Amino acid sequence: MNNYLAFALKLARKAGKLLISLQPSYRKPQTKSTTLDLVTRADYLSEELIISAISKKFPSHKILSEEQKHNNCGSRIVNCEFLWVIDPLDGTTNYSHQFPFYCVSIALVKESKVLLGVVYNPNLDETFYACAGMGAYLNAKRLKVSNIKTVDKGLLVTGFPYIIRKKPGDNFRNFQNFCLSAQAVRRAGSAALDLTYVASGRFDGFWERELKPWDTAAGMLIAREAGGEVTDFKGNQYDPFRHREILASNGLIHQQMIKIINKK
Ligand code: IPD
Ligand code: CA
Ligand code: CA
Repeated sequence: MNNYLAFALKLARKAGKLLISLQPSYRKPQTKSTTLDLVTRADYLSEELIISAISKKFPSHKILSEEQKHNNCGSRIVNCEFLWVIDPLDGTTNYSHQFPFYCVSIALVKESKVLLGVVYNPNLDETFYACAGMGAYLNAKRLKVSNIKTVDKGLLVTGFPYIIRKKPGDNFRNFQNFCLSAQAVRRAGSAALDLTYVASGRFDGFWERELKPWDTAAGMLIAREAGGEVTDFKGNQYDPFRHREILASNGLIHQQMIKIINKK
């Protein structure tokens, strides 16, 4: 595992530095599926760097990465022996506006189980990582979720999907209910970082709909390894390949969050 982890750490940092170096030059995002869903040259170049390093070092491993043409998560790819799941730039909208909250996210999955996750924020030079069963870390420091016991003391975070204009109602009810119940709610713009912030106790809870495996695979493991709970909105164990909705918390406020999220 150490071999894979060392490789993923080095690669995430290299890709993160590349994102920073490209920042001033690229301010011409293209849109993807909706006018809100951006992609930049930096997304592609970071992806290229990561994919070529993995293919060179582990030629038999499969790769699932956001900007690849055939990035579907069918059972054939998910059940393969080794699968790298990559978001080469999570937080593209932030990146495009030079709002320094974005990251590179890399996970290694074996037969559908996430073995390791690395999330690197190049602006703060913060590397969050975890290996299954071995705890979670920020740089060299062991991570632990917060210990607040009630939602009203909690700082929560969420995100809104790119299809917000087509399905505007989706998260607004939850957003309103959490704003009325929590100490405060943020919308930070990078699901992978949101999960690592739950792991480090900066946030106490996170929920979002319509996410993909590359947004959550690494962050999910980091949050769990820091003692957090990660489920769907009903409380079932969250699986990045099966679920689109995610609820992560310090565990102590999880049931309260489930109640609020399912409130009509
Ligand atoms: C997005 C970010 C954002 C979340 C979106 C994601 P991208 O990923 O994680 O926080 O709200 O749903 O798609 O497009 O920046 O890689
Ligand atoms: Ca993403
Ligand atoms: Ca992305």
